[in-house]
Amino acid sequence: MEANEIQEQKEYINKVSNLNTGKKLKYHILTMGCQLNENDSEKLVGMLEQMGYKESTDASDADLYLINTCCVRENAEEKLFGKLGELKKIKENRNIIIAIGGCMMQEEHITQKLKKSYPFVDIIFGTHTLHKLPEDIYTAITKNKKVKDVIDIDGKVYEGLPIKRSNNRQASVTIMYGCNNFCSYCIVPYVRGRERSRKPEDILNEIKQLAKEGYKEITLLGQNVNSYNGGEGYKFANLLRDVDKIEGIEIIRFVSPHPKDFTDDVIDAIADSRKISRLLHVPLQSGSTEVLKVMNRKYTKEQYLSLIDRIKDKIPEVVFSTDIIVGFPGETEEDFEHTLDVVKKVNFEQIFMFIYSRRVGTVADRMENQIPEEIKHKRFDRLKALYEENIEKNNEKYVGTNQKILVEGQSKNNEKMLTGRTDTNKVVIFEGDKELIGTTINIKIVSQHRWYLKGDSRDCP
Ligand code: 5AD
Ligand code: SF4
Repeated sequence: MEANEIQEQKEYINKVSNLNTGKKLKYHILTMGCQLNENDSEKLVGMLEQMGYKESTDASDADLYLINTCCVRENAEEKLFGKLGELKKIKENRNIIIAIGGCMMQEEHITQKLKKSYPFVDIIFGTHTLHKLPEDIYTAITKNKKVKDVIDIDGKVYEGLPIKRSNNRQASVTIMYGCNNFCSYCIVPYVRGRERSRKPEDILNEIKQLAKEGYKEITLLGQNVNSYNGGEGYKFANLLRDVDKIEGIEIIRFVSPHPKDFTDDVIDAIADSRKISRLLHVPLQSGSTEVLKVMNRKYTKEQYLSLIDRIKDKIPEVVFSTDIIVGFPGETEEDFEHTLDVVKKVNFEQIFMFIYSRRVGTVADRMENQIPEEIKHKRFDRLKALYEENIEKNNEKYVGTNQKILVEGQSKNNEKMLTGRTDTNKVVIFEGDKELIGTTINIKIVSQHRWYLKGDSRDCP
């Protein structure tokens, strides 16, 4: 059935492509939010290009402007409405199609606001109807009417959509959609629906194909990758082991796992692999057991720390990155100090820090003990200061070591220099020949410069 639905959309692609013949039309896409959204945008672009639209890097000459929205925090809303103000002016002078899709469109109060205050938007589509973009565009063009294509029931897992990847060495592969966790601050389960995993063979075939095309680095994506369920007892650890066997793929990453699902079989699969990155992202959110409970995270401070120890025991060279929210409702000074304590103990390589943002419809939004903005900002600054203090200390341990890096390109500031990233995601700058771009090489780290490391590619095996 899903295959029929995709076939139907392929027919719409042909219809729009016929309508567009000879018109040299251009699209511009703005993607907000996480890597899952970026991966969705690669599919949207795949469809647009098959419909005859060419990319325009500048919004001013686009015939179709598409925004793929995020709603995890409030600032994405400000960004969307600001952009729509600009697009209104363009639309007054030119006939441009404006399409808005993604997470924010699953929120009723947002689509109501669009209808009332931004009636010039042509197409609104949600997270479960992304694959219907061709049909929506066809309807907007031929019937000259506004299209709202948002459904509340979970989308299916659609395979075989066209895709245009934004990078030709590193690729993202979504392995599961949706989330069942309902962390009390988070809007994702409401806008992306319940968990749905892709079939193992579909994922593995996609990665084998990427390897054939020369891709070296794969990131497995999902809201909660380690609750992946491929059926018949096939779990995330099985998938990691099978991806690991694919020849040609040299670096494997995954985001995001949930600490409560970080089982020993997953740790063993990572320990046994020479390809899986030694930078593991393990979202903490808060270091306070009390706050974690109200967040509905299902682990305590001690359980988080013992998970980190269990991983370090089996993978001594591992380093960690994390997500932390400050200013969750009811967070006391003492709670916040528990967060600082975990940061000191784990010594994270990278921290994605967020100020708690109220999301309509979530449990935490209905709590009365919201934290004043000023306190949230002060705590955020204290966390940031602690993190930055550690950056150079963390960098020092790389100096003098040999690191495997994927060479990504020339340095923006100096053509003679190349840039790449270590397995642990540190930027490395070094002198080298352009021919190295796209390969993985071993490199000696000679110095650290806070935001990057300097390497020397001579004498390395
Ligand atoms: N406010 C602030 N940060 C949030 N995140 C999710 N929801 C919120 C919110 N309401 C953060 C979490 C999550 C990351 C993707 O975004 O840290 O891991
Ligand atoms: Fe949101 Fe929690 Fe699901 Fe992550 S695991 S998407 S934070 S509800």
